[in-house]
Amino acid sequence: MFNKILDKTVYFSFDSSGFKRHQKSYSEINPNIFDNKTILITGGTSGIGEALALKLTKSNAKVIVTGRNKNKFLESTLSDKGVEFSSLDMCDLDGIKLLASNLGSIDHLVCNAGGMPENLKIHYNSFDTIFCSQVIGHYKLVQALAEQKKLNGACVHFNSSGGMYPVKLDLSDLKWENKRYDKVASYANAKRAQVILTEELPTIFKEVTFTCSHPGWVRTKAVEESIPGFFKFTENRLRSPDQGADTIYWCLSQGEKLENGSFYFDRTKKDPYPFFWTKETDDARSQLIKMLNSEY
Ligand SMILES: NC(=O)c1ccc[n+]([C@@H]2O[C@H](COP(=O)([O-])OP(=O)(O)OC[C@H]3O[C@@H](n4cnc5c(N)ncnc54)[C@H](OP(=O)(O)O)[C@@H]3O)[C@@H](O)[C@H]2O)c1
Repeated sequence: MFNKILDKTVYFSFDSSGFKRHQKSYSEINPNIFDNKTILITGGTSGIGEALALKLTKSNAKVIVTGRNKNKFLESTLSDKGVEFSSLDMCDLDGIKLLASNLGSIDHLVCNAGGMPENLKIHYNSFDTIFCSQVIGHYKLVQALAEQKKLNGACVHFNSSGGMYPVKLDLSDLKWENKRYDKVASYANAKRAQVILTEELPTIFKEVTFTCSHPGWVRTKAVEESIPGFFKFTENRLRSPDQGADTIYWCLSQGEKLENGSFYFDRTKKDPYPFFWTKETDDARSQLIKMLNSEY
């Protein structure tokens, strides 16, 4: 009962105390489960992606991380642990296709890259950086790998966010022509789109298991630099990157046992639509899929 009340507060659920409380019911994960598995993590050079990469190397996985800035990788401890790096901007759709052609088969793909850039930049005359990198870019990566039969039997996981909970998918003005650019609103919209992708993609890529999750509120550079007010307010309560990576690690370990298309928080399946007004129409879903399959 007390747990339920604390979860309802959100604050004491998404924070590190929430993680510690939920962790009490966790079972141990067999570390050998990732032996000889190849795992690709987009945006794995810092924060949650880096922590996940480190966890996976301890489990003998072969880990490849991507990012735009190679220095982040070099400054991390990842290269000492045998992690490979591939330079990739998730807004560079040709670069995504090239990377997919250069890679071999992937056992798990974690679509983690993301941020909240301060300045508006429009890509392919269609999207801002947030939507292009987190939604379009990740879809194109999945598509390119799947078309080359490199995701057969694989799990794909989207690192979404609880920031999408109060938001309904809005595809009406992805170039911010009719309103002032709002990075937080764009981020929430892209994270909502990732949840929808997780539900829709199993029907397109039948050989892949898709899941997504909210990592909680995690102490990372992205949070400190992009939302400093929030960082200051929650600073002492934020989760560590390792705690933030836990549910992704768990989802990968469960693989096909999980319900295809589902959303998780702290190793528990959650309804991604706690507010009925955030449910998009079937037309909006179709519009999103059409957008993803267009050429840019
Ligand atoms: N921290 C939280 O509380 C929290 C909560 C909910 C969800 N998340 C999600 O968790 C994911 C990881 O975030 P984080 O907090 O760990 O932040 P982070 O430490 O800044 O890590 C972001 C990673 O993504 C890469 N990246 C960012 N934009 C990219 C782009 N356009 N193309 C390619 N790579 C890009 C970054 O490297 P480069 O900059 O070098 O490219 C970096 O490796 C994000 O999707 C974020 O939305 C975080």
